[in-house]
Amino acid sequence: MTTLHDKVASQVPHGLDRKEAEVYRHLDPARLPRHIAIIMDGNGRWAKRRHLPRVAGHRAGVAAVRSTVETAARIHIPALTLYAFSEENWKKRPASEVSFLMRLLSRYLKAEVPTLNQNNIRLEYIGRQHELPEDVQERMQWAREATARNSGMVLTLALNYSARSELVDAFRSMLDAAAQNGGLDHLRIDEDTVSRHLYTRHLPDPDLVVRTSGEMRLSNFLLWQLAYAEIYVTSTLWPDFRGGHLLEGIAEYQKRERRYGGLNHDAHGETSSAIDERKA
Ligand code: FPP
Repeated sequence: MTTLHDKVASQVPHGLDRKEAEVYRHLDPARLPRHIAIIMDGNGRWAKRRHLPRVAGHRAGVAAVRSTVETAARIHIPALTLYAFSEENWKKRPASEVSFLMRLLSRYLKAEVPTLNQNNIRLEYIGRQHELPEDVQERMQWAREATARNSGMVLTLALNYSARSELVDAFRSMLDAAAQNGGLDHLRIDEDTVSRHLYTRHLPDPDLVVRTSGEMRLSNFLLWQLAYAEIYVTSTLWPDFRGGHLLEGIAEYQKRERRYGGLNHDAHGETSSAIDERKA
């Protein structure tokens, strides 16, 4: 005989550990975010607390990436975007740290493709890739092609990414498209047009943005796309972050009421102003 306990247990996706399963049981699977974006922060502080060089924090951050990606895929989040490397990081950090990050990324891609395939994850990138070292670009292209046939979660890595540069590139792309399509007189710009020229044209806007290490900033990440996203900030430093922390962020997201600039809705879909009018 199937007990209630068996039923609940069978709804927990395969592969979650005990702590993850415990948090997952309190989630509503019908209201998971369609797209989660993460600002991975705190690698340097993690290393400093241990009297280690900053790069040790980045190295430890890879385990956090692995755990977060696998958990997101296991619970069937359709899209996950990780802010791995900003344009500012690229320009303002010492060359030795930048080249370490490039090597780390290359190694991650090589090592992780089999796991991405096992989890049916398709890899994508956003950012000005053409400015990255050529060998890294080649590795990125290889990993994208090796996962291109997967139909599950889309994992997008933001590399050499800046939201303002993305908007500049989108404006240029709209003008190029107009030039090939009858000139400026035929250019009609609305929100859909802008969205279609962003790097993220293949993705829905994120419902939830997570930032680790307690900072309350967007740091030039997906400024257009995050217009209505719920923001979840955790004091956990990125190298300590795991799938269970992601699930806690989703639990917090599910407690929020999303209004997109509209009014409250009661359980029957009525707006609070309609209820107030009836009461009046
Ligand atoms: C921010 O911490 C983190 C980064 C600039 C790099 C993120 C890289 C990884 C997590 C590892 C590699 C990624 C992939 C996808 C393989 P910080 O250095 O700004 O930390 P701090 O604010 O404490 O100094």
